[in-house]
Amino acid sequence: VERLTALIVKGGRVIDPATGFDAVADVLVRRGKISAVEPSVDAEGTVIDASGKIVVPGLVDMHVHLREPGREDEETIASGTRAALRGGFTTICAMPNTDPCADTASVIDLVEARAAADGVVNVLPIGAITKGRQGKEIAEMGELAAAGAVAFSDDGTSVASAEVMRRALEYSKMFDLPIISHCEDADLARGAMHEGFVSTRLGLVATPSAAEEVVVARDVCLAELTGARLHVAHLSSAGSVEIVRRAKKRGAKVTCEVTPHHLILTEDALAGYDTNCKVNPPLRTEADREALREGLADGTIDAIATDHAPHASHEKECELIDAPFGMVGLETAVPLLLTELVSRAGIDPVAVVAALTTRPASVLRVPAGTLSPGSSADLTVIDPSVEGTIDTSAFESRSRNSPFHGRAVSAAVTDVLVGGVWMLRGGEIQ
Ligand code: DOR
Repeated sequence: VERLTALIVKGGRVIDPATGFDAVADVLVRRGKISAVEPSVDAEGTVIDASGKIVVPGLVDMHVHLREPGREDEETIASGTRAALRGGFTTICAMPNTDPCADTASVIDLVEARAAADGVVNVLPIGAITKGRQGKEIAEMGELAAAGAVAFSDDGTSVASAEVMRRALEYSKMFDLPIISHCEDADLARGAMHEGFVSTRLGLVATPSAAEEVVVARDVCLAELTGARLHVAHLSSAGSVEIVRRAKKRGAKVTCEVTPHHLILTEDALAGYDTNCKVNPPLRTEADREALREGLADGTIDAIATDHAPHASHEKECELIDAPFGMVGLETAVPLLLTELVSRAGIDPVAVVAALTTRPASVLRVPAGTLSPGSSADLTVIDPSVEGTIDTSAFESRSRNSPFHGRAVSAAVTDVLVGGVWMLRGGEIQ
C-alpha cells in the first residue's frame, strides 16, 4: 500500500556520495524508486520528518557470513537479513563458506530462494573460487556466475597456490566479476592474535602482519599479470594499505575493504583473552589502525565491510587458542563508526558513507548505494545524536559474539526503506 502513495523524507541532511550531494533536503519516493532529492519537495504523500537526522542511501555490506546452509544455529538468511536491516544495510553479500559451500549453482540458487522467501533486505551471493574451498581445483565459475554470483571468494581461507590464483583470476575475466581474496599465508599465520608486544606478554603463538602482506603483494602481482579485477578482503595492516595504494597508483584493477573492528580496536583488546576479539585477520597495532584510517580518508580503501561472522556462544566460551575466528558486526557498524571515527576521530562522514554505499556498489558493479533519481528506493535514516549502549541481548542476529556489549555509542539507525517500503521505523522492524 505504501508503495502506491508518494513518500517524502523531509528535512534531513542528505549525504549521497555517488552524486556528490550533501545538504539538508527532502527525498521524494514514488513507486519504489527515488524520484527526486531537492531542497524542498512539494508533493502529496506521506511525510516522514528527518530533521536533525542523516539520510543516506541504503547501506551495502559486501562481506557477510549468513551461515545458511549448514550452521542455522548461528545465523540464517532470515535472522542475518533482519540484523542487516537493523544495522541500516539494504544490500548484503553472502560469503560462500557455508556447509555445503557455494561452489555449485544449487547452493547459489538456495541462498537466492531463501533470501527471496525469508530475507528482509537484498542478498547478493558470492561463489567459491575453488571446489570445496580447498584451493586445488577451480570451481565452475561460469555456472556460479549464471546462477547470480556477483563475485568469487574462498573467504575464511586463502588460496595457497599462486598458480591456482592466477588461473582463477584469468577465468574470472570471462565473466567480468571480481575475485575477493582472503590474503593469508597459512604457514606464517600460526596464532590466535597479532604477533607483537601483546602476544609476547601473553605468551601466545601469533600471526605477523607479513602473513597477510605477502599474499596481498602476490595477488596484486597476479592481478597485474592477468588484468583481472582483484578485491582484497579485510585489510588489517599498514603494509597492506601501502601495497594497495601503490598498486592503485600504477593503475592495477585492485580494490579493498576494511572492517569496523580493525578501524576501532587494536591488539590491546586481547589483553584479557576475550575470545570475541579473536578475528581473522587479527586486530593489530595502533600504527596499523592509524594507517587503515588514513587509507579510508585518502580513498585507498574502497569499502567498509563488517565481515559479520556469527559463532555459537558455546564455541566462543573456551580458551583463546580453541575459539573460532570472527565477530558479529551488522548491528553495531553504524553506531560504532559514527561514534568512534566521525565524532571522536574527526573523519569526514562523507568518506565513511561512501565506503558503506557507492564504493562497494561500484566494486561489485551493482545498482545500489545511491539516491540518484530512478534508483531503487533503498534509504537509511540515522540519528547522529542519540546516547545509547550496545546491547547484544537485543540483537536480531542469532549470535552474540561481539566484544562491544555495553559500549556507549552516540548514533543509531532509526528508519530503513527497502525498495520503497518502510521495513524499519523508529528502530523497530515492521
Ligand atoms: O574472522 C573471521 N571469521 N574471518 C574470516 O575470514 C572468516 C570468518 C568466519 O567465517 O567466521
